[in-house]
Amino acid sequence: MGMYLNLSIKEVIQKFPQIEKILNEYEIACGTCTMGLCLLKDILEIHKLPPAESKILMERIGRVITKGPEENLEEKKILSRPRPNVCSPAMKILVAEHNWIKKWLALIPEVITYITLNPPEKRDLILAGVDFIRNYADKFHHAKEEEILFKYFSPELEILKVMKEDHTTARILRQAILDSLDQDDEHGLSTNLQAYQQLLSQHIKKEDEVLFPWLEKQLSPGQLSDLFSKFQEVELPADFHPQDYENFIQNLEEKLKGLGLMANTLKAR
Ligand SMILES: [Fe+2]
Ligand SMILES: [Fe+2]
Repeated sequence: MGMYLNLSIKEVIQKFPQIEKILNEYEIACGTCTMGLCLLKDILEIHKLPPAESKILMERIGRVITKGPEENLEEKKILSRPRPNVCSPAMKILVAEHNWIKKWLALIPEVITYITLNPPEKRDLILAGVDFIRNYADKFHHAKEEEILFKYFSPELEILKVMKEDHTTARILRQAILDSLDQDDEHGLSTNLQAYQQLLSQHIKKEDEVLFPWLEKQLSPGQLSDLFSKFQEVELPADFHPQDYENFIQNLEEKLKGLGLMANTLKAR
């Protein structure tokens, strides 16, 4: 068992596919992670479970690895447990920004329908969406994570590498959205928008529910207050106003809602 703790989760799951199923029962969705580079021991540490659950999880993983009988364990079903929340003002800033990004992500299916029905408006709407992605989601939000928050930790931490890799993939998809718009490639545009939506939705879920609560616990009260100050002191370009982007999302939501295109989104929430 010891040697497997230092293997990446992808390698562990490749060797023992049953472990992915067990982790899923504990709402640890590492099997679907974009990279799977995190070590098994780090995953168990980051997804801090209550001691009793953690002990049973370790026993179950150990039994799969040593090919012991899984059924003998008393525990079978895990009751859904409340997701950890962040409580420091610094982390709350990031979560609040996520909420605006999530609103945009939730609108993407309706945006795709809207531009199909209103081709003359396609270019302006997609360019506005890409502007939100570039300036709000990336330069304003991801930059805070990469250039401030992550700097408090070792760059060798696998979970941070995974998060940065997601940011890089998001930038590649942003360019792909623009390229398909320029080439008037309807199918490519819709595929790239959906890929962006899927990537960022999963990324934000990982940050909100796992990474941020865990990072927050690693920082001292002094560091958290320092982090908050640094977030507040970020120098923004003179022509950048976060409120403009939040208004853009708010107005788009109202517009699509008014057209009855929001039904699917609202049902999914
Ligand atoms: Fe991120
Ligand atoms: Fe984020």
